Amino acid sequence: MKETKLKDKNINQSWGGRFSSETSDFVKQFTASVDFDQRLAEKDIECSLAHTSMLQKIGVLTSDERELIQKSLQEIATSINQGSFEWSEDLEDVHMNIEAALTAKIGDVGKKLHTGRSRNDQISTDVRLWLMDQIDDISSIILDVQKNIVELAVAEHDTIMPGFTHLQVAQPITFGHHMLAWNQMFKRDYERLLDCRKRVDCNPLGSAAIAGTGFEIDRLHTSNLLGFSKVSENSLDAVSDRDFVIEFCAFASTCMMHLSRMSEELIIWASSQFNFINLSDKFCTGSSIMPQKKNPDIPELIRGKTGRVFGQLMSLLTLMKGQPLAYNRDNQEDKEPLFDSVDTLINCLIIFKEMVPNIQVNRESMLKSAKSGYSTATDLADYLVKKSVPFRDAHKIVGELVNHAIKSKCELVDIDIESMKTFSDVISDDVYDVLTVEGSVRSRSHLGGTAPKEVSKAAKHELESIKRLNAKK
Ligand code: ARG
Repeated sequence: MKETKLKDKNINQSWGGRFSSETSDFVKQFTASVDFDQRLAEKDIECSLAHTSMLQKIGVLTSDERELIQKSLQEIATSINQGSFEWSEDLEDVHMNIEAALTAKIGDVGKKLHTGRSRNDQISTDVRLWLMDQIDDISSIILDVQKNIVELAVAEHDTIMPGFTHLQVAQPITFGHHMLAWNQMFKRDYERLLDCRKRVDCNPLGSAAIAGTGFEIDRLHTSNLLGFSKVSENSLDAVSDRDFVIEFCAFASTCMMHLSRMSEELIIWASSQFNFINLSDKFCTGSSIMPQKKNPDIPELIRGKTGRVFGQLMSLLTLMKGQPLAYNRDNQEDKEPLFDSVDTLINCLIIFKEMVPNIQVNRESMLKSAKSGYSTATDLADYLVKKSVPFRDAHKIVGELVNHAIKSKCELVDIDIESMKTFSDVISDDVYDVLTVEGSVRSRSHLGGTAPKEVSKAAKHELESIKRLNAKK
């Protein structure tokens, strides 16, 4: 009887009991989240299947009822997968759409599903389950990116390029060493992501609206079925906590920041002024007006998309900062930033992974550039130190030599020995050995150094560890 009344007045079937007038269409649109949270449908159904099983275990549902509910939920899942499910904005969100479809299918039995739970613990459970899957995908893409980067390091372990500080030529390095620096950033991202997963992997189901439930629920049962390894320890915290979303987005921001820095380098290196690399045509586009142009739009877009991921982290932090315990509807605003961060990151990682093997290295150009800009000046200072000149004095002497070279419009290696000796009498013929870029990189053969031998060793070690991590999955 009551239901007919609600229907007549078009009041929400799930919570309209105490309402006497209907919500305006505008308010319905304003509050509805089904447009975006339907993405969680598969997880919402998984969560309901586990909850149903638990309700039977504790005697709230008979085994026939459990079977009927579960069978019907599976059918709903199939219709969602096939795209034939009709989502309704009037039913607000993914949870109520699915529950309404269940009740429409099987009547009163369907109405028992929501016993001992609330949308508050349900949504947190759904998001956590969904995010764990995304984390597993992302971590495996990161390993693929690392693998491609390290393989490039192996191929270019002895390719000499200038290393920069302040974007000024600093010291010669190997391109392989530069690639291994990129690898380190992703290695930390991978570790951060796995650490974040530990906190996503916690089951809030059973916290209900805020205080838990009076039914003697078995939270370990649902946790096992859903694949959670921990159960939340406080119902207020469990329904309102979104740290795990923020933590993921902080990871995503850091990873995007890395992708953006690397993209920036690719853009600079591909410029005709640098001419260190060519990006294959697949990753560039032309200009509609300037026929000569080949633009590195792909790394530019990665750099550009980084902004939205940072913005989403900030919006989530702001979303949470003023909320009193426990659940508030504000929390509905966590989904779009999270979804967009996940999508953007995955797309950027995939495209970056594809792009790396398409970096064509212009070795001559890098070498030429490494030989300019007095990149071996530090080697010369170290040479003087090895001949008992205190480092500060050596620094000064080399500074004067560089000044001389600038005035003579030549490189250090072009200064003849007699002129050299006028700057310091400890300099002898063997000075030219340390002035070559090859000698400079070769000498840095300690752990973490740029010597080709060391780079090749480090790269092989990295490939092994990537292989091991891939095998563990
Ligand atoms: N759509 C809501 C969200 O995303 C689900 C929980 C709603 N709970 C409530 N009591 N209104 O957070």
